[in-house]
Amino acid sequence: MGSIRTQVCIIGSGPSGLLLGQLLQNAGIDNIILDRVDEDYILGRVRAGVLETGTCGLMKQAGADGRMKKEGLIHHGFDLAFGGNSHNINLLKLTRGQSVMVYGQTELTRDLFDKRRQTGGQSIYSVSAVEPRDFDNIKPFVTFKKDGQNHRIDCDFIAGCDGFHGVSRQAVPESALKTYERVYPFGWLGVLADVPPVQDELIYANHERGFALCSMRSPTRSRYYIQCNSDDKVESWTDDAFWDELRRRLPVHLAEAMKTGPSFEKSIAPLRSFVSEPMRFGSLFTVGDAAHIVPPTGAKGLNLAASDVHYLFEGLRDYYLENSKITLDAYSERALMRVWKAVRFSWWMTTMLHRFPSSTGFDQKIQTADLNYIAQSELAQASLAENYVGLPY
Ligand code: APR
Ligand code: PHB
Repeated sequence: MGSIRTQVCIIGSGPSGLLLGQLLQNAGIDNIILDRVDEDYILGRVRAGVLETGTCGLMKQAGADGRMKKEGLIHHGFDLAFGGNSHNINLLKLTRGQSVMVYGQTELTRDLFDKRRQTGGQSIYSVSAVEPRDFDNIKPFVTFKKDGQNHRIDCDFIAGCDGFHGVSRQAVPESALKTYERVYPFGWLGVLADVPPVQDELIYANHERGFALCSMRSPTRSRYYIQCNSDDKVESWTDDAFWDELRRRLPVHLAEAMKTGPSFEKSIAPLRSFVSEPMRFGSLFTVGDAAHIVPPTGAKGLNLAASDVHYLFEGLRDYYLENSKITLDAYSERALMRVWKAVRFSWWMTTMLHRFPSSTGFDQKIQTADLNYIAQSELAQASLAENYVGLPY
């Protein structure tokens, strides 16, 4: 068995693992990243694309923000559409100067891969049977298989950055975990197409036929979504059926302006809120999707992964460079406090914008009142904007 030693063993090479790895790398803290798939597979995943200021700041801190600064689109606001009209939420004005950056998660991940390569960070891909071991002890280790050989990494800490289906959370005894979950009774059908976006800001639309979202990846690439049934199959949605349904859910002037074309990616994602507490067990920490999932309404998933990384990095930095455990001991509590606020926000956005099959006449009236309140009250808009650009760390 090959045996290696590092300070922090990171399981998972998604945005959480790569960002944490880079911050540690830059601070001179030794780390190894393991993933069960390879780089190309990871870069093939299509995910959301709205970055909070804090996430952009972490990319800068990682030294991986060069391309993002050039190619990312700064958005000063977005539209909420309902009842045939659209209402602009002016983030810049409502938050006194804040905005968001539209830059695909795939691109952010690619930049982090490149940076890790440039700075000589060690990653091991296409591994199997990864197991975090003895993390209730001061000498944890991780075992895995690569090319039929067994390997072992001895470390001080294990960062579980291995997503919702990863091994890290599952390695913790069930009795030590408390989980909270809500599954929503619908999905999002998303397409990518090389057509210019319908307008230069995002549109979140509430419609009696269901939710719709107009987003983008660049001035020539659009990302559109419509609410669909949980059991819908991608194959049964032709491009024409998708565009027709999207147009029906948008105010007429936008539906008429929308350019359509062949999609080159089409997928259905379920919507769920999930939190597993705490986010630390001895020397094992859970980070990002390994600890929590939010529905995509409001684009908080990646941004929450980034704030977890921020808190964990601060803890590890103080541990290694300041000889203090205080920040590391506070990780789970600090991260969860912010996680729950984003869980609340994305649940609220989801509830306000979607059609629920079980919705009663009363529920419908409350939803409309919620939307009218936002459209008419600057204070309500300010709260929406404050959450959308991202609450402070
Ligand atoms: N062993 C090793 N690696 C694993 C294992 C395992 N048993 N299980 C999962 N992984 C890897 C996956 O292959 C994946 O590359 O962990 C990585 C987890 O990455 P993500 O799922 O992208 O999770 P995270 O890095 O926390 O990113 C959160 O991604 O899912 C979106 O909406 C979410 O935007 C948010 C962000
Ligand atoms: C996206 O561009 O994929 C996106 C944007 C905003 C969201 C969700 C997804 O709220």
